[in-house]
Amino acid sequence: MKFLVVGGGAREHAIASTLHRAGAEIVVTSANANPGLERVATQSARIDPTDADRVVGFARTSHAEFAVIGPEAPLAAGVADALRSAEIPTVGPSRDGARIETSKVYCRELLRRHGIDASPKFEIPTSIDDVDRLVGRFDGPFVVKPDGLTAGKGVWVQGADFTDPKEGAVHAKSILLQGGRVLLEERLEGEEFSQMAFVTDSGVYPMPAVQDFKRALEGNRGGNTGGMGSYSQRDHLLPFLPAADRDASLEILRRTAEALRAEGSAYRGILYGGFMLTARGPVLVEFNARFGDPEGINALTLYEEGNFAALLAGVATGRVDPNLVRFRLRSTVVKYLVPPGYGDRPKPGGLLEIDEGAIEADGVHVIYGAVDAAGPGTVRLGASRGIALVGEASAIHEAGTRVEAALAHVRGEYYVRHDIGTKDDLARRVEHVRQLRAPGAKASPLPLSVAPAAAPPSSAGTPEQLIG
Ligand code: AMP
Ligand code: GLY
Repeated sequence: MKFLVVGGGAREHAIASTLHRAGAEIVVTSANANPGLERVATQSARIDPTDADRVVGFARTSHAEFAVIGPEAPLAAGVADALRSAEIPTVGPSRDGARIETSKVYCRELLRRHGIDASPKFEIPTSIDDVDRLVGRFDGPFVVKPDGLTAGKGVWVQGADFTDPKEGAVHAKSILLQGGRVLLEERLEGEEFSQMAFVTDSGVYPMPAVQDFKRALEGNRGGNTGGMGSYSQRDHLLPFLPAADRDASLEILRRTAEALRAEGSAYRGILYGGFMLTARGPVLVEFNARFGDPEGINALTLYEEGNFAALLAGVATGRVDPNLVRFRLRSTVVKYLVPPGYGDRPKPGGLLEIDEGAIEADGVHVIYGAVDAAGPGTVRLGASRGIALVGEASAIHEAGTRVEAALAHVRGEYYVRHDIGTKDDLARRVEHVRQLRAPGAKASPLPLSVAPAAAPPSSAGTPEQLIG
């Protein structure tokens, strides 16, 4: 099978490597020359991944049989629609389906239209005169979100990005004045987790749950980023996430997939739910229409060898064999090496020397992101997340320790969060949820009542079966 991989980051390197290990031939369109992708691809073209005509042209000339779209921007640009029109079955929703990610307002309204009670309290001001009144409706802290794609960086959370509600109101008004739409949301208190699934006509097929570290700096300080690293747990739950809450999040994914279908958006791709585990259960923070980056790297690392090409071909054509949806029972930790200043004012251009052989010999994988090859064993960092190191082990903290040890084989100037996947950090998160849920804890004002998990379609298999 020959797959076109669209995009040139670490997530796409992970997708392409997993396909390659399954015996697929890979061709790539990306704006940068990712050394990892270059290695697994038989052909690669420097094409802007959002340029639908050129992507389709390359898919044709390279005789790709299937396509998989990594990042959100090509989905928003309708590249999946263009590939399907050219009769190339594609993993990635249509532009309409991708609105679940590209418009936070659409996402909240879709859930409301279909009675999916998974949103925090939210308001959508339509003019700047509305803003102060609607801000006044929140009893506690709130969040300001621009409507469009922001690469995880445009969201302002009260208590982290601003303190006085008036500052939040000014931010919301400035978004409206620039012609954008804006969403105001109650600030949720809890632990975030990402639950991804393969979604196609035949059902919703879950992946292991993952926790991402969004803030740039250790101790969860600094600005919101696309994600500095992430971990997953051996049983595909998380230390603070019990099965019942994971199942409630899967039910929200299933009902959302049905809602998209009911509204005419045939969805063949990845659906990623970003949830906050609150005192009352999981509440949806956002949907993404693709693999998370880095969360997709955790999940793909665990994918059972051999069948990934058949699985993605099934997603692209509408029928997945549930026996192909298998993930190994191991814990994983991903840490990104980023340019100094990333998250605020990144300093690109630095060189990193990587002894990949030594790292792989220690059982850690090197996944290349926003870097360009700069000679043997050397890469040049761009302005974004450069290299992901992935460790796996039985326990999460052991996987984290492996990644830390691998850093000895990287020379150059970079920043990495050492606190990802440490015992201390995991314990803090478990304690956070325990306190939120302790009897007598301040009741959450959330109007949340997640429907009990319905029996999954027989083709999907239960999460327990997939884990077990
Ligand atoms: P989003 O782009 O919607 O994922 O938002 C980026 C990040 O902002 C999320 O990963 C959360 O850390 C934070 N965030 C977004 N919405 C909320 C909310 N309602 N309550 C608390 N934090 C939020
Ligand atoms: N890591 C968050 C995302 O992929 O959007």
